[in-house]
Amino acid sequence: MKLFQRKKNPAADIEDIRRQGRLPAHIAIIMDGNGRWAESRGLPRNAGHARGSENFDRIATLCSELGIRYLTVYAFSTENWKRDPEEVRGIFDLFRKYLKKSCDEMLARNVKLRIFGDTSAFPEDILALIGRAAELSEQTTGMQVNVCINYGGRDEIVHAAKSLACDAAAGRISPEDVDAAAVEARLYSAGVPDPDLLIRTGGDMRVSNFLLWQIAYSELYVTDTLWPAFSGEELCRAIISFAGRDRRFGGYGKSSKPRR
Ligand code: FPP
Repeated sequence: MKLFQRKKNPAADIEDIRRQGRLPAHIAIIMDGNGRWAESRGLPRNAGHARGSENFDRIATLCSELGIRYLTVYAFSTENWKRDPEEVRGIFDLFRKYLKKSCDEMLARNVKLRIFGDTSAFPEDILALIGRAAELSEQTTGMQVNVCINYGGRDEIVHAAKSLACDAAAGRISPEDVDAAAVEARLYSAGVPDPDLLIRTGGDMRVSNFLLWQIAYSELYVTDTLWPAFSGEELCRAIISFAGRDRRFGGYGKSSKPRR
């Protein structure tokens, strides 16, 4: 059964999907392929990250306009420290630039910003910008952007387990009270609903230590398109693909109820 009639114009499809209440509330993106995009043009890898950063800005603006409530992007993993120090410096300069611009424009854009990851070793100026962004986010009501920096899914779960162990050792929680909600409350993403749709650009069929707890029932959309070339139109195609799926969460589908 078709869940909605496809139109020629993806924006019209998105309008139908919105009317039917089938927009994903939370989109997560693995923005992969910046390096390949640059190398295929004979450019340094950091030129790919710079284009990737511009594209992130475009896609985030579009998500906000479409009415997406949460956007979470994988910007730097706990494993990315293995890269050349010059590449790492270049990526952190882009974060600095992005955080400054976000703070300047946050009220006008009416978005919220959170950083997921271990920020303990970040330079002072970046920590100050993250703090300022958190303050400004208290005054805004629109889409929440979560940027994962120095983030690893396993690291996040270990961090939550340590917090539970400390609370148990101090008598603040008993072992019987440890449940999924207690773990979730200690993740970087506490208070944010799980992603409905996980998009990966760059074609690799893996999750690369991203949001391991949260993506348990996310719908996947993998495209060969490299991140700097991922367009608004392709975002709409991913949303259209999502809206046509039958999410079962381990239960029954719409057309497969058991006979009694
Ligand atoms: C993966 O591509 C991308 C990264 C490790 C960095 C992502 C960073 C940005 C998009 C720019 C800054 C972001 C923000 C939020 C301001 P890759 O280098 O692994 O690409 P490859 O697989 O082609 O080598």
